[in-house]
Amino acid sequence: MNARVAWLTEHAEDQAAVLAHTLGLAIVTAPPDHGYYLQQEPDGLTLHHATAAATDNGLRLDFLGNQQQRRAAGGRQSLLAKAFGLHRHPPCSVIDTTCGMGRDSLMLATLGCPVRSLERHPALYALLADARARAEQADSRPDWLARWAAPIFADAQTWLDENAQTFTPDAIYIDPMFAGGRRKAQPQKALAWLSEIAGADTDAAELLACATQHARRRVVVKQHHRSAPLAPPDNQIVGKAVRFDIYLKAPAQG
Ligand SMILES: C[S@@+](CC[C@H](N)C(=O)[O-])C[C@H]1O[C@@H](n2cnc3c(N)ncnc32)[C@H](O)[C@@H]1O
Repeated sequence: MNARVAWLTEHAEDQAAVLAHTLGLAIVTAPPDHGYYLQQEPDGLTLHHATAAATDNGLRLDFLGNQQQRRAAGGRQSLLAKAFGLHRHPPCSVIDTTCGMGRDSLMLATLGCPVRSLERHPALYALLADARARAEQADSRPDWLARWAAPIFADAQTWLDENAQTFTPDAIYIDPMFAGGRRKAQPQKALAWLSEIAGADTDAAELLACATQHARRRVVVKQHHRSAPLAPPDNQIVGKAVRFDIYLKAPAQG
């Protein structure tokens, strides 16, 4: 079962409470004794583990930090870029159906792709929206902001089906969470918490079938390098820990 996430606010009527209510998150006025809770702090919206050590600062997304800049520096030769054909072809429009902590969306926008991101977990959506809003208010606006639209709180299959008439992206990206952790025995805190609150995405194969109908050129699925593909892919980009399975709609594009 997915861990419970509440929203901690002293005033049950304030703006945070209105957003929590809209997203369907329980509002609490004191830190809960189990699960997770969100709290608006001076540096941004923060996710806390109710039983974490007092020294734990929680988890806040930051799209302007050094870690993001280092990741983006991998550029067009990164596995992600290759999976979208960006090492050989111009940027393509992308819908990231599983935005999570936004790292891959941001990377694709940094590489020049216009990106729309969908996230169905309310707490992750709230963290994403908060981090993006902070990036918008930064003294020097990063240029990827113009290409990465504000995240959308939605289930991807529903959203794709409802918006198929008005919006067809070149590529659709799926990075599902698998049961039992994804990469290492001891994943970093952010991945471990994400896995606990969002749980396994057991409907990933259905999402792939849906995405294949709606992408103009390709669907890219990120997988653990040893896990079985959701369906037989047309191409694969294989790394040490992850693999990208590529499903082509148009004539091959590397
Ligand atoms: C492994 S994480 C993605 C990590 C992300 N690629 C990143 O760079 O941070 C998977 C995320 O996709 C979301 N998700 C899974 N299936 C979804 C769907 N059908 N619609 C919207 N969000 C979905 C989950 O809630 C979870 O936050």
